[in-house]
Amino acid sequence: MASMLLFFPIFSLSLFLSLPFNNATSSKDLDTLLQDCTFKALSNPKIGIPYDAKVPNNLTGVKVSAMTLSRSTLTTRGFQNYNEFQIPIGVIEKSYVKRLVLVYPNLGNFSEKFYPLPNGFSYLTPVLGLLSYSGVNLSETELLPNLDIRASEDKPISIRFSDVKSVPYGSIPMCVSFDLNGSMHFDIVFHDWDENGEAEEDEDE
Ligand SMILES: *[C@@H]1O[C@H](CO)[C@@H](O)[C@H](O)[C@H]1NC(C)=O
Ligand SMILES: *[C@@H]1O[C@H](CO)[C@@H](O)[C@H](O)[C@H]1NC(C)=O
Ligand SMILES: *[C@@H]1O[C@H](CO)[C@@H](O)[C@H](O)[C@H]1NC(C)=O
Ligand SMILES: *[C@@H]1O[C@H](CO)[C@@H](O)[C@H](O)[C@H]1NC(C)=O
Repeated sequence: MASMLLFFPIFSLSLFLSLPFNNATSSKDLDTLLQDCTFKALSNPKIGIPYDAKVPNNLTGVKVSAMTLSRSTLTTRGFQNYNEFQIPIGVIEKSYVKRLVLVYPNLGNFSEKFYPLPNGFSYLTPVLGLLSYSGVNLSETELLPNLDIRASEDKPISIRFSDVKSVPYGSIPMCVSFDLNGSMHFDIVFHDWDENGEAEEDEDE
């Protein structure tokens, strides 16, 4: 699992296309901005409690929250229901920081702006993400690197999408994810919609 995960079903009206992603600059800017506004939201945080961050006015519609968790809790207990994310037991962070900040962005109606899709595809859900940073110094103002967190193949992090548009007739839902280098990856949807119109996705990269 890459340190930035963004999954959501999309539909295909045309042939399957996978184009290079040329919007890396603005997704990097987004990363910077997310770190900046979330660390401000975390003054004196309680461990394991998600805090909503304030986004700049020109990003109204984007939701961001952040939560601190110790590395050992992440690995031994996981975290159920961090918004749409189900984090299982066994997730590891490879640089051994004692405390992590897990940042959750929901790009809402900015999804298409930050992560434009190839022609013939459109989003059925907002783009969601899960990023991790060192939480050792929460007053850090320097830009921190993303940490590398990984789930095992048999216990992947799953996402229960709560805000899914119905699939237009004749089109096929797919998942798309973006890595930090800005590449776009398409994948199949693991589970079908349930009766509440919710979709559940598994990812085991
Ligand atoms: C929001 O405004 C800031 C400057 O205040 C600018 O740097 C940034 O690019 C803007 N973001 C968007 C998505 O328009
Ligand atoms: C998203 O919706 C908000 C209002 O909820 C609006 O202010 C904003 O301009 C919209 N952004 C985009 C990219 O459509
Ligand atoms: C935390 O970061 C701030 C801002 O970069 C710095 O001034 C401070 O010395 C750091 N604290 C520790 C304990 O490293
Ligand atoms: C991203 O780019 C770096 C440096 O070029 C490379 O080492 C890494 O393997 C790339 N990651 C992915 C997921 O392509």
